[in-house]
Amino acid sequence: FTPKVLAGQHVLISAGPTFEAIDPVRGLTNLSSGKMGFAIARAAHEAGAHVTLVAGPVSLPTPRGVGRINVKSALNMQKSLHVLSQNATIFISAAAVADWRPAEATDQKIKKDGSGAVPTLAFVENPDILADIASSPRAREHKLYCVGFAAESHDLLAHAQAKRERKGVPLLVGNIGPDTFGQDDNALLLVDEQGATELPRAPKLALARQLVAEIARRLPA
Ligand code: C5P
Repeated sequence: FTPKVLAGQHVLISAGPTFEAIDPVRGLTNLSSGKMGFAIARAAHEAGAHVTLVAGPVSLPTPRGVGRINVKSALNMQKSLHVLSQNATIFISAAAVADWRPAEATDQKIKKDGSGAVPTLAFVENPDILADIASSPRAREHKLYCVGFAAESHDLLAHAQAKRERKGVPLLVGNIGPDTFGQDDNALLLVDEQGATELPRAPKLALARQLVAEIARRLPA
């Protein structure tokens, strides 16, 4: 039995990495299995929400009852999230979005010319999808509750607090430990206006259910 703490809510979740093309056969990506975001989608559905997942390239089955849109690049992801956030009441940004993309993707494979010369890549910054959605009119009018994630290698609390302010979100969730990528267990640090709360190490689905309950408690009345 799961309490339907998110009944009537439209939850939008981003998950997985993004893939930024260099040429038709190569690209840049981030380490992210998507497991945490997918677990949150499942937990939110169990809690009675209407759930849409926007997923980067991952090999995970879609949780039952959840709508899914597959995207590749940060710009693709931004476009989908921008549209879907217009009808969402909660946005949980669990995706590991690439901070930069190659300035231009060639439409032909870059070939070795036999001289030993190496290509150089120029980058441009990707948009901060979460910060943009968190500053949208819907979010500012408290019709959209935004939750961010942070994966840090050190000083998690300080970085999570700073990131919460910088992204303009009421709740920022830190991944505890540098070794959570791809694993089934995790521990989370929840940072909000009141301070920080730890959700101790547990399987990602158990943590996702606790996180859903924590989000439900924080929703504006
Ligand atoms: O700045 P950093 O990448 O550490 O922030 C992580 C949070 O911001 C995550 O919630 C991630 O989904 C989101 N993010 C984003 N767009 C970016 C970079 C990060 O939405 N370009």
